[in-house]
Amino acid sequence: MTTLRMEEGAHAVLARNDRGGYTVPTDRLYPFQWNWDSAFVAMGFATFNVDRAYRELERLVEGQWDDGMIPHIVFHVPSDTYFPGPDVWGTRHRILTSGITQPPVFGMALRHVHEAALANGMTDAEVRTRALFQAALHSHRWWLEARDPDGLGLVSILHPWESGSDNSPAWDEALARVPTTTTTTIRRKDTGHVDAAMRPRDEDYQRFIHLVDVYRDCDWDPKRQWAKAPFKVADVQMTAILARATADLMHLAEALGTDEDRAGLAQMRRRLVDGLARRWRPDLSRFVSLDLISGADIEAPTQAGFIPLVALALDGAQQSAITAEIGRWLDGMVVGVPSTPAFSPAFEPKRYWRGPVWAVINWLIADGLRLNGAEDLARRVEQSTVQAIENAGFCEYFDPTTGEGLGGDTFSWTAAAYLALGRRR
Ligand code: GLC
Repeated sequence: MTTLRMEEGAHAVLARNDRGGYTVPTDRLYPFQWNWDSAFVAMGFATFNVDRAYRELERLVEGQWDDGMIPHIVFHVPSDTYFPGPDVWGTRHRILTSGITQPPVFGMALRHVHEAALANGMTDAEVRTRALFQAALHSHRWWLEARDPDGLGLVSILHPWESGSDNSPAWDEALARVPTTTTTTIRRKDTGHVDAAMRPRDEDYQRFIHLVDVYRDCDWDPKRQWAKAPFKVADVQMTAILARATADLMHLAEALGTDEDRAGLAQMRRRLVDGLARRWRPDLSRFVSLDLISGADIEAPTQAGFIPLVALALDGAQQSAITAEIGRWLDGMVVGVPSTPAFSPAFEPKRYWRGPVWAVINWLIADGLRLNGAEDLARRVEQSTVQAIENAGFCEYFDPTTGEGLGGDTFSWTAAAYLALGRRR
């Protein structure tokens, strides 16, 4: 199919998943608005409809809590095709939302959309960006207060779903400590939409819901949750995205912020960049997350170890080590970068976050490589992503060993990634 036809196809996926100013990740499997999906989708919309790109972000912040947290799901309209729904979360915001969050790509998307609006001469760009900038700033303050209370310079996830890499082998050890008992009755819906062999196992689901039960019993209060959390991981992927989004907000603050905003953001960024830099492991040629309950490094190889590229300027030795390592992960793959490398015992090329390739992860890795001067490898990652989408369609993710498209089809963020990356060839 020609690039033009593919772009039309991407527009059609976004139109089909539009529910009125916001986009569902895909019909039925994910029938609400998801946090980081929408941030990527906004950047996709920015390639052809900047007004709609703003709307995506505006509708997401309708779900923002008074303490600043932007939830991982906003349940704008009821649907019975997803579990756990609002009754399980039991949160008390003005509109129904989940009680946990997701990677704050929002700030990155806001800068992107703002720049597209200026390039298009949109007259209301400044007013719209300003309101969203305040929401982003509030959420970044929440991140540091609620999720780095001890000042490590790393923010923590209290639930694997917060990472966006739900079922990653990086969480295996930490999750194994979480009991499988639940007070909520589990009624999985996901395995009715896609093959169970591609999805998390039942036992993982019980632990996921156990965590929801614990935090709901804390009334979703950040301090009580922090004290009670049976799962607490200082995540390098999350911290890197937050640090990068903070840098993007600093850029916007030049024109739109106060002196106090600028100083606060600069301080935040310094703290996160320093925290991240300490997580580099030269013997592994990547960054590692920290299990705050056991105190141990999480050495399981996953894509998260490369995401700090988006936030840090690595030195020469680190640059060559990390690019060589990514090259090794790509070796023998039809499409990369795998979420878990083929040499890992945890590798499962078709199961959620345990091997498959995600277009949006490649988008982040390619941006980070480019920032760090690795232009050729960035192009290789982008091209292989675009190629995979052209061959298999706008699927949720791809088998790295065959290029086969897996999970849900007609996925919004895959369409958005195509629009953004397809233009770079
Ligand atoms: C899954 C993914 C998560 C994504 C969501 C909606 O839960 O792991 O990253 O946001 O689906 O697409």
